Amino acid sequence: MKPTEQIYANYTTEDFLVWKTLFNRQLKNLENKVSNEFMYSLERVGFNADSIPEFLSVNQKLKNYTGWQLVTVPNISEADEFFVYLSQKKFTATCWLRTLQQLDYLEEPDMFHDVFGHTPLLSNTSYSLFFEAMGKLAVKYIHQKEIILKLQRLYWFTIEFGLINEDNKIKVFGAGIISSKGETEHAISNRSVKTDFNITEIMKHDFRTDVLQDEYYVIDSFEQLNDSLKQFELELEEVCT
Ligand SMILES: [Fe+2]
Repeated sequence: MKPTEQIYANYTTEDFLVWKTLFNRQLKNLENKVSNEFMYSLERVGFNADSIPEFLSVNQKLKNYTGWQLVTVPNISEADEFFVYLSQKKFTATCWLRTLQQLDYLEEPDMFHDVFGHTPLLSNTSYSLFFEAMGKLAVKYIHQKEIILKLQRLYWFTIEFGLINEDNKIKVFGAGIISSKGETEHAISNRSVKTDFNITEIMKHDFRTDVLQDEYYVIDSFEQLNDSLKQFELELEEVCT
C-alpha cells in the first residue's frame, strides 16, 4: 500500500540514499542540458541532495510564488481528477520513493519524478499559468473525449517531454525528461527528432508511455504555450457555439 500522506518520520535510510543518489546524478547529467528557468526554480523551492523535500514547506514556498500547492496521492491520478486539481492550481504528487534497485526505471511515477521533475517550475508564473489554463479548459470540456485526448497529448509533449530553445541551444524542461537519466541523454542527442512546437500537430500526435520518445517538440518560451492554448480555446468556442 502506497502512502496517501507524507509522514516524514517514515522515510528510511534507503529513501534518503535514493533521493541523494538521484538528485546528485541528475543534477550532473542535466548540466548544460536543462532550461535555465528550471535551475532558477530549483533554487526557489530549495531542493537539495541531503533532504527529501517536505511537502508542507514546499507548499509554503509555492504559495508565495504562484499560489500552487502539492496534493498527496498514492498513485498516478485518473485524468478527470488530475485536471480538476490542475484547474484549482493543485498538482497531485506521490510521496514515496523507488528502491535502490529501481534507480534507472520505474513504471509508475514516484516522488523523484513528481517532486524533483515537476514541482520546481510550479514556482514560475508563465509556466504555471499555462498549466492552470490547461486544467480549466479540460474541466470545461471534461465530457468531450476528443478534446480531453488532445489536451493529454499537449500535456505529454510539453509538461512531460517538452524542450525549449534558449540562446539558440535546445534545453529540456519536461518533467519526464528531467527526472530520467536515459531520457535526458536521448532527448538532447541526435538520435531523437526535434520539431518546432506546433499545437495542432501535437494534438494529432499519439504517444507511448513505455519507451523513450522518438520525437520532441521545441518551444521558444512558456508564453508561447499560453498564447497557443488561448488560440485553441478560441477555436473551440467558435466550433461549439
Ligand atoms: Fe509526470
